[in-house]
Amino acid sequence: MLGSAAGGGAPQWNCACPVCRDARRDGRDRTQDTVAVTGDGTAWYLLNAGPDIRTQILRTPELAPGPGLRETPLRGVLLTTAELDHTLGLLSLREAVRISVFATATVTHALTTAFPLRPMLGAYTDLDWRDMPTGVVLDGGLVAQRITVGTKRPRYAGDAPGDDWVSALRLTDTRGGSSFVYATCLPVWTPAFDVFVAGADEVLLDGTFTTDDELTRSTGRPGTAQRMGHLPMAVSRPMTARHPATRFRYGHLNNTNPSSGDDIAGDGLELFTDH
Ligand code: MLT
Ligand code: MN
Ligand code: ZN
Repeated sequence: MLGSAAGGGAPQWNCACPVCRDARRDGRDRTQDTVAVTGDGTAWYLLNAGPDIRTQILRTPELAPGPGLRETPLRGVLLTTAELDHTLGLLSLREAVRISVFATATVTHALTTAFPLRPMLGAYTDLDWRDMPTGVVLDGGLVAQRITVGTKRPRYAGDAPGDDWVSALRLTDTRGGSSFVYATCLPVWTPAFDVFVAGADEVLLDGTFTTDDELTRSTGRPGTAQRMGHLPMAVSRPMTARHPATRFRYGHLNNTNPSSGDDIAGDGLELFTDH
């Protein structure tokens, strides 16, 4: 887990809510949602690339460059949304000699027109931008399967076409067999999602909000969690009981979310320690 916070991080720079004030006082910093995955410990992929990516890479020894001058273990980035908190970090990876990005056609279109990140990045690096229909084979023995879990567009892409806006990923280590589901933006727990998580070892769920009314109660701002595309933890927690052999944890915590405990992921957490 390179980062475990929703957009803005926690503390958020302009927020004086109790959660942000406590974090500031205690020197805690939850950076924005990004996970690094590997099958063989050598080839690494990012699940999304948030605005804190430079700091996150610098503090992760596994992602250090070398031995070649510009050799990096980072092979690519898999995008699950086109949101700014999941894509702005790509611009900070422009020094790459070469980088692969995987996204749905819907997300790719938004990042080509409404927010032309793809052509911009392509001017700085050898960009290998690929479609991610329902799955891809990655380097290092990893396979990634994808399902669409939501259709919420980013605010900047108000009338952009397409349906595959928000995805969940299931990454399987084809040698060890273990599998991990990444679903930090999950608007609803559908039967299809229930099948998608079945048998996984680890699942990272949407921990943006604890309850549907958290944002309004804590900031006075209108809008419910579910209307913002985020299933509250109070609703998803009971669903996890259907999969007793699977470990569920929460990421992408909004700065209003005061949760702590065993199933709350923090920056730097290793989800699998068998490597
Ligand atoms: C979200 O997770 O809903 C978005 O990242 C919201 C935002 O960009 O502020
Ligand atoms: Mn977000
Ligand atoms: Zn706050």
